[in-house]
Amino acid sequence: MTDEIHGVGTEHLDLKTDRPHSARIYDYLLGGKDNFEADRVAAANITQGWANLPKSMRANRNFMLRLGRHLAAEHGIRQFLDVGTGLPTAPNLHDVVQEVAPESRVVYVDNDPIVLMHARALLVGNPAGQTSYLDADLREPDAILTSRQLRDTLDLDKPVALTLLAIVHFIVDDAEVHDLIDRLMRPLAPGSVLALSTCTADSAPEEVNAGVAAYTAHGVPVRARTKAEVVPFFAGLKLIDPGVVLVNHWHPDEAAAAVPDAHVHMYGGAAIKS
Ligand SMILES: C[S@@+](CC[C@H](N)C(=O)[O-])C[C@H]1O[C@@H](n2cnc3c(N)ncnc32)[C@H](O)[C@@H]1O
Repeated sequence: MTDEIHGVGTEHLDLKTDRPHSARIYDYLLGGKDNFEADRVAAANITQGWANLPKSMRANRNFMLRLGRHLAAEHGIRQFLDVGTGLPTAPNLHDVVQEVAPESRVVYVDNDPIVLMHARALLVGNPAGQTSYLDADLREPDAILTSRQLRDTLDLDKPVALTLLAIVHFIVDDAEVHDLIDRLMRPLAPGSVLALSTCTADSAPEEVNAGVAAYTAHGVPVRARTKAEVVPFFAGLKLIDPGVVLVNHWHPDEAAAAVPDAHVHMYGGAAIKS
C-alpha cells in the first residue's frame, strides 16, 4: 500500500493480523469488514459468554452520536478531540457535529494502524469546518497535545470536547486513567468538556465478567468498572445532566429508550470544565 495521510506514510504498516485487536473485534461485532481471522476467532470466543456485547457496542455508538449532537447544539462546542476513534462507521462524529454547526473542527486520534489506513474516510468533512487524523497513543498525551494536527486544527484558547469513548476500559489501572485525563484536560480552556464511556459489569455481572476474561485471555486486557469507579474520572468538572448513567439513559432518543439495561454494559457521561 502506498498512501499518505497528513504526512504519515502508510506503506510500511505492520497490521499484526495474526493477533486480535480491539478496533477490529469492535468492527467485526458491529458488522464491519475490516477484520481478520484472529479477530473473528477472538470475537466468537468473547461473545460465547458475552452474548449481548454487539448490542452494547451499538448502544455505545448511538450514545456517541447523541452526545456529539447535544454538545454541539446545547453547549455550543465547535471543537472535538476524539481519542480512540475506531474504524470509520457512518455517521462519524464530524458528520453529526458538522450537521449542527458546519464550522466544527474534529481531531481524530487512534493508535491502530488499520484505523490509520482508513483515516481518509474521517477527513472528508464539511469544507466550512476541518477534520484531521493523528496516529498516536492515549498513553502519550504530550505527543497528542503538541502534534501539528492538533495545533493546526484546534484553538486551545476556545472550548474543546475531549471524547474518550470505549477506550479507557483498555487501561486497567485507575490511577493511569486519572493521570491521562488530567494531562489532556489541563491545557483546555474553560467551557471544555470531558465525555467518556467505558465498560461496566453492573448491568449484567456474570455475562460481562465472562467476556472480560475472554478478552484478556486473547491478549486484550479490559477492565469493567462500577459506577463508583467511573464517576471520579470527572472529578473537578461539572457533570451535565443526567450524570454518569448506562449510555442508553443519556439523553435517550426513542431507539435508546427501547434498549433493555441488561443489554447495555457501558457507562457514559460528560462534564464541563469551569
Ligand atoms: C472499542 S473502539 C471505540 C471506537 C469509538 N470511540 C466508539 O466508541 O465507537 C476502541 C478504539 O480505541 C483505540 N485504542 C485502544 N487503546 C488505545 C490507545 N492506548 N491509544 C489510542 N487508541 C487506542 C482502538 O484502536 C480502537 O480503535
